[in-house]
Amino acid sequence: MEIVAVNALLCPHCGRSFIYPLPGANALVCADGHSFDIARQGYVNLLTGHGTKFISDTADMVAARDAFLDAGHYSALANEVARQVSKQLSRAQLSKAQLSAGESEPAVIVDAGTGTGWYLHQVLASVNTETEEQFGEMPNVVAVGLDISKFALRRAARRNPQVANIVWDLWRELPLGTDTADVVLVIFAPRNVREFARILKPGGTVIVITPLPGHLAEIAQDAGMLAIQDDKEVALVQAMAEHFVLIDSQELLVPLLLDLPDVVNVALMGPAGHHLDADELRKRLSNLSAQTKRHAEKNAQPQTSATAAFRISIFAQVP
Ligand SMILES: C[S@@+](CC[C@H](N)C(=O)[O-])C[C@H]1O[C@@H](n2cnc3c(N)ncnc32)[C@H](O)[C@@H]1O
Ligand SMILES: [Zn+2]
Repeated sequence: MEIVAVNALLCPHCGRSFIYPLPGANALVCADGHSFDIARQGYVNLLTGHGTKFISDTADMVAARDAFLDAGHYSALANEVARQVSKQLSRAQLSKAQLSAGESEPAVIVDAGTGTGWYLHQVLASVNTETEEQFGEMPNVVAVGLDISKFALRRAARRNPQVANIVWDLWRELPLGTDTADVVLVIFAPRNVREFARILKPGGTVIVITPLPGHLAEIAQDAGMLAIQDDKEVALVQAMAEHFVLIDSQELLVPLLLDLPDVVNVALMGPAGHHLDADELRKRLSNLSAQTKRHAEKNAQPQTSATAAFRISIFAQVP
């Protein structure tokens, strides 16, 4: 964990900062002496007592998500999220430089429900590089990943060792100070609107990713996935309205070619994964090849086409 990322955190018991690194201690220890061990994989559990009653994703569901995302099917979404993060950071950087002499403190991204950290990894890799040309100079960027699932955070901490990966319940007061973050990312994860407003710096942004109706419709029924019913943007805007206003919104349609393991993974990684049995699903989908086209390459697996459909909504704080 980068020191500057840990600097964004506050002790959940007393609200004081952590002294990190503390020689001889493999833990985050606050100024009052409250101590939280750093797990072998590099994440920290700041959650004491019980989190929200929540059926955590199983290790198999997390593994399926990791395999599917690592295959790159949602790279277009990650690229677009990264582009938006760069745009928002450079906007914030610009107004800060106009206000002050432009002292360069790092920008802070909070990834709410970071999961296995896959999107955050793509975002951090991209900020400062490809997008710099497009949006101008980027500040140094650090990140905090919050998630209630230890299974997911084990992977996130390995994938993003520089990030402060923290076990936390998003429905609680977040272990971050007021006016700390520049961007909050919420990629298919719960939204604690009041807390997001508190931790964001003035001028900060929330970037929300949601699935659209028709998301993977071609395979949803066969794969036993829950259908995305309606476009919930109106409800989203209403839920955010006390603190945020929608400043940008776009739909992203991603054509996919999926083989059988991909379809099994994408079904298992979603909410239906709690009820689906992987072997049964594989059997059920074995007729998939009947409906599929053969990929041009010799000996390639049969593939089926499907369209991923996402909405990217950008919210700014109500002044
Ligand atoms: C659908 S996954 C998305 C993960 C990641 N953003 C991605 O897109 O790969 C939702 C994530 O939210 C987390 N989550 C659900 N409820 C939560 C809560 N109350 N507090 C923290 N994390 C929560 C889950 O553990 C899970 O990792
Ligand atoms: Zn403390």
